[in-house]
Amino acid sequence: MIRVYLLAVAVGTSLFAAPAGEEVFKQRCAGCHEQNNTRIPSVEVLHRMPAARILRTLNWGVMGNVAYTMSIAEREAVASYLGTHDPPNPVPPAAFCADRAVRFATDAKAKSQPQWNGWSPSANNTRYQSTQAGGITIDGVQQLKLKWAFAYDGDTTAFAEPTILDGNLFTGSAGGVIHALDAKTGCIRWTYDAKGPVRASIRAVSRGKGYSLLFGDQLGWFYSLDAATGKELWKKKIDEHDAARLTGSPVEYEGTVFVPVASWEENRASSADYPCCTFRGGVAALRVRDGSVVWRTYTVDVPKQTGKLWGPSGAPVWSAPTLDVARGLLYVTTGDNYSPPATATSDAVLALDSKTGKIVWSRQLTPGDIFSGGCSRQEIACGPDFDFGSSAILVHSGNRDILLAGQKSGIVYGLDPMRKGEILWQIRVGKGSTNGGVQWGMAADGQNVYAAVSDLARARVQSNDPADLRTSNLDPNEGGGLYAIRIADGIKAWYAEPQHTCPAERPGCSPAQPAAVTVTPGIVFSGSVDGHMRAYSSEDGTILWDFDTAREYATVNGVKGRGGSIDGPGAVVVGGMVYVNSGYSRQNGTPGNVLLAFGTD
Ligand code: HEC
Repeated sequence: MIRVYLLAVAVGTSLFAAPAGEEVFKQRCAGCHEQNNTRIPSVEVLHRMPAARILRTLNWGVMGNVAYTMSIAEREAVASYLGTHDPPNPVPPAAFCADRAVRFATDAKAKSQPQWNGWSPSANNTRYQSTQAGGITIDGVQQLKLKWAFAYDGDTTAFAEPTILDGNLFTGSAGGVIHALDAKTGCIRWTYDAKGPVRASIRAVSRGKGYSLLFGDQLGWFYSLDAATGKELWKKKIDEHDAARLTGSPVEYEGTVFVPVASWEENRASSADYPCCTFRGGVAALRVRDGSVVWRTYTVDVPKQTGKLWGPSGAPVWSAPTLDVARGLLYVTTGDNYSPPATATSDAVLALDSKTGKIVWSRQLTPGDIFSGGCSRQEIACGPDFDFGSSAILVHSGNRDILLAGQKSGIVYGLDPMRKGEILWQIRVGKGSTNGGVQWGMAADGQNVYAAVSDLARARVQSNDPADLRTSNLDPNEGGGLYAIRIADGIKAWYAEPQHTCPAERPGCSPAQPAAVTVTPGIVFSGSVDGHMRAYSSEDGTILWDFDTAREYATVNGVKGRGGSIDGPGAVVVGGMVYVNSGYSRQNGTPGNVLLAFGTD
């Protein structure tokens, strides 16, 4: 009896007791916020802020680096202790559309319009949009002008790629607000508050009458909303691990949605008392209808404790899966292991049976890659941190299928899906680094695969000034570039040099091109950390159009708007419009909070 009782107490205090917000504040925040420093909001100021906004600041705002070593419960407790519990700022009435009805082509009155639904217009993840659907020609692209700007209230990052369907635009945000906008004018039809930041693309799936909107958030929750009203149909936590996050976009096939599962445990492990590491990457297949589980596949076995460490762990999936309907397979790319032992499934391309989730084959491109914030502390041989953050692209070339995979190592591979991913060719495009190499996504047309190079260079800075939150400075001269590689044989077709346009006075500026690439016939779009979105000729890489997004905007929703770094998603080209996100405060890039819409007419 006594032993049981003691065990219950021990478990109760360490695992289940909600942390006290005041304690968390003293330990994690007071050191800075109780200083008499005009550049740090005082405790009184924090007490007047809505708790929801404080939580947002911790989850994906200016306090992100501070919060990375905190559990979700600690974040919630401190936000709730500090902040007010008033409802958040209401959307200004003028930001809403006069007609707030969301209409689809299946409605009698609406006419079918071109679309961009999810991470890529097609499930093979080419990020290729036809001229018919994109409506942007080589002549047209040079006439592109800003039509409207929309700002995410209180955010420092704009990283959710919009989905456009029948003139409706659906997008998430770092503040966790889902917006349904009019794609032509940017007025709001409805909003929905998710639990955490939403960067994954929204996948709209027809229910016969109307659509369901499917997406995941950065706290591991997955949602289905009714597209017409924004009402929740169902939601569920995909993974019980505290550090789980859903970064990659879901894909759907015949009533099943495939959800890639990643985590921020790599960062969580920087905390000295954190038992590193226990997260297992993978994919969840759910029924679109009700979210019930069809199958759940993990990339590594259940971790066991050895000394202070737990393992295996990691091999997260943080890009959109790629469907191969003909072979009944789902290709996913994986990241590194977080702790020993290294597994054969990290930094790999895996082929899963789409019906059962069974791993049919696995092609590892970098063996032995263990990386986390705990590396230096735990005396593990670490690195090189060469995850895959980009989806595999399935294309047909000549008389064969080829899987294209671009890695943070800076190498692009052509793999044979008929022979368990055997390497057909490989080409180095970048030096490779923690921030890529190839980072968020490549694009392919019939000829070439287009790989933008990040190679973001950061120099650590350790400031004694508590108001200086930068952990590193970006090198304004290193990184960037765009490669066109022939799909048939992996030979370089052309290379466009990085542009060096960082103004001396702009911190967080770099020519690196980590953002996903988009292609439409004749034109390749690639954004950079310096805030430029550029359109390149797919023939020879000459620059056709260049827009510096890092500036202030008058926005259609009346919220203060600023552009910054372009990182994460790529341009979305549809119906004669080009949509671009600008602002990315992670990795010490330039913050910003805007969705920009360009058009030609
Ligand atoms: C290393 C010093 C430091 C620590 C530790 C720190 N903060 Fe901050 N915090 C700052 C600075 C500096 C700013 C102002 C940043 C700016 O305006 O860009 C700030 C701003 C904020 C803001 C306002 C952000 C906004 O959106 O206006 C909130 C809320 C906040 N901190 C909450 C917290 C909480 C909660 C903790 C503890 C979990 C914490 N901070 C720990 C330095 C710190």
